[in-house]
Amino acid sequence: MIPTKALGICGSPRKGNSYFLLKKAIEGAKKVNPKAVKTEIYSIKGKTFHPCIACSYCVKHEGQCIHRDDFEELRDKWLKADVILYSVPVYHMGIPGQLKCFIDRLGNSMFGMFRSKFPAIKDNLPKMFKIIGSIAQGIHIFSGQEHTITNLINHALIMQSIPVTGDLWESYIGVGGWTSNVIEKDGLEKLIQKGDMSAEATIRASQVLGRRAVELAMIIQSGLLACKDILKEEPIYHPLLTWMEEKKKRLV
Ligand SMILES: Cc1cc2nc3c(=O)[nH]c(=O)nc-3n(C[C@H](O)[C@H](O)[C@H](O)COP(=O)(O)O)c2cc1C
Repeated sequence: MIPTKALGICGSPRKGNSYFLLKKAIEGAKKVNPKAVKTEIYSIKGKTFHPCIACSYCVKHEGQCIHRDDFEELRDKWLKADVILYSVPVYHMGIPGQLKCFIDRLGNSMFGMFRSKFPAIKDNLPKMFKIIGSIAQGIHIFSGQEHTITNLINHALIMQSIPVTGDLWESYIGVGGWTSNVIEKDGLEKLIQKGDMSAEATIRASQVLGRRAVELAMIIQSGLLACKDILKEEPIYHPLLTWMEEKKKRLV
């Protein structure tokens, strides 16, 4: 199997329910092949992501952002991953502001980075084909989980990547959960201890999401290599094919 990196990004400013579900998803990802799948969890807790100020500095400076904060560290981890699993709390029926700041800057920074490295795809993004899975949980039951997941699916598509879901019935477009009106950061864990069916389903769905994301990454990576002679005619695939060839040399 081609070595696969699964990066979990926790979009909560605290180590709470989102972090708990992300650990389950990462467990599921790792189980596919513990030797070949490397995993990492990144939490935005304590990190700073300033908002984009539309200065275009990144576009002219190989993707480097004018702000000096935690953005570039996470961007580089994002770029090196094959699978990205987001686990976020629902905020105002959408993704938390810190994560939105990161995502806004990620997109623009990529334009600057690829424009300098691959001039043939100037003013475009290469196909990245990262497999992106989303978990969103809130405090209430109909309170923005689907909107939040849709935000992340749109982000995946803009980033020339592939959104993935788990299995029905527990995961339609990603994993949505709720803490049964409890605000505490260990709300989900407590519900599990009480045998709450909805919390149990959210955990199972998170584990399956991680697993399906890695399986899809395997399929995509093998497919890219199998089709490389055709795809190499298109500059838009060059960064990805170069990366895949390098990874193939480290076959597990
Ligand atoms: C600023 C803010 C906005 C929130 N907005 C929503 C919301 O729109 N819908 C919802 O279900 N929960 C909302 N919540 C509750 C959180 O999504 C919920 O407590 C979640 O479990 C927090 O996850 P965490 O423990 O990972 O931080 C909000 C919480 C905060 C702090």
